Amino acid sequence: MEYLERMRERVKELQKKDKVIVLGIESSCDETSISVVVNGREVLSNIVASQIDIHTRFGGVVPEVASRNHIQAITNVYELALKEAGIKAQDIDAVAVTYGAGLIGALFVGVSFAKSLAYALDVPLIAVNHIKGHISANYIADKELEPPFMCLVISGAHTSIFKAESYTEFKLLGQTLDDAIGEAFDKVARVIGLGYPGGPKVEKLALEGKNNIIFKRQNSTKDSLNFSFSGIKTAVINYVSNAKSRGEEVNNADICCSFQHLVAKELASKVIKATKENGLDKIVLAGGVSANRFLYNYIKEEAEKDGLQVLAPNSILCTDNGAMIASCGYYSLMAGEGLADLNLTAKANIAYV
Ligand code: KG4
Ligand code: ZN
Repeated sequence: MEYLERMRERVKELQKKDKVIVLGIESSCDETSISVVVNGREVLSNIVASQIDIHTRFGGVVPEVASRNHIQAITNVYELALKEAGIKAQDIDAVAVTYGAGLIGALFVGVSFAKSLAYALDVPLIAVNHIKGHISANYIADKELEPPFMCLVISGAHTSIFKAESYTEFKLLGQTLDDAIGEAFDKVARVIGLGYPGGPKVEKLALEGKNNIIFKRQNSTKDSLNFSFSGIKTAVINYVSNAKSRGEEVNNADICCSFQHLVAKELASKVIKATKENGLDKIVLAGGVSANRFLYNYIKEEAEKDGLQVLAPNSILCTDNGAMIASCGYYSLMAGEGLADLNLTAKANIAYV
């Protein structure tokens, strides 16, 4: 019997099993991560090899450098993930892997590794959409969480509002029309000389600043659930360059603090509006930018005024990690979705969910 045919049968068996062990592989950007997760929620190991130190010297992620470092790291990361989980390769029931969206060369490393492993172990290969993976991190963080809920996906490449209708079905309600929020954080950091990675550095410096700057911008998304971060980013750049051309000193901490307040207000107002309009009571945050505690606390306080609950995973589960991919792979498997053949290929761009 061919691999795919055999795996269709295997998925049916796994759907009846009490304990399903999924190995999740993530390599879409600058983190090589492999995790072992039981039944989508219990993390036995979550190994993350970050390339941040390598890319810092270039001021941002260099795709070719990222791919090479994934190749160097992936076997060790895999071995550590099994060791920490206390399992053998033969205990793995399925292999889940991010196949898109992301840096194509980086994705290929994880996808090739996952295909070889699934073939060698003769277990199902589950193709996972990176954004769905980020949302699933919340199932690990909150064991009681069940759909439906509203999701605010804020990462280096995405800013979107989704209604999670079930574990595998999502409805896109709003998204950025230009830059992602993470790009805006990274750009603001660069303009004021904080360097890469911008988000955590902006968050830290903002703690020392005041919300006392009004950035002038055009707001074309005022009445919709869409976002525009390009305008906000440009407003910060203009503020800095105007001040410099007048020979004035700028206060970087105040810039960070005011920028964060502006984006927090924007995110909170839209996601709360979407949640109320859809009759939901829970908002979950997902993606690297949700590691920002100021944004989380701001959105939480605003949402609580309307009786809405806000959840976000802890920092390691917000940024790219294999555990979220294993969790998402598990729910795909249970829904009979995502089963891939051994000709699975990586995709730089895929539809959101
Ligand atoms: O989800 P992620 O790890 O990768 C993508 O899927 O894009 O997100 C990376 C983004 C970067 O733009 C980084 O600056 C941002 O998440 N980020 C943060 C924080 N930690 C990471 N942004 C704001 N505050 C943070 N604490
Ligand atoms: Zn990500």
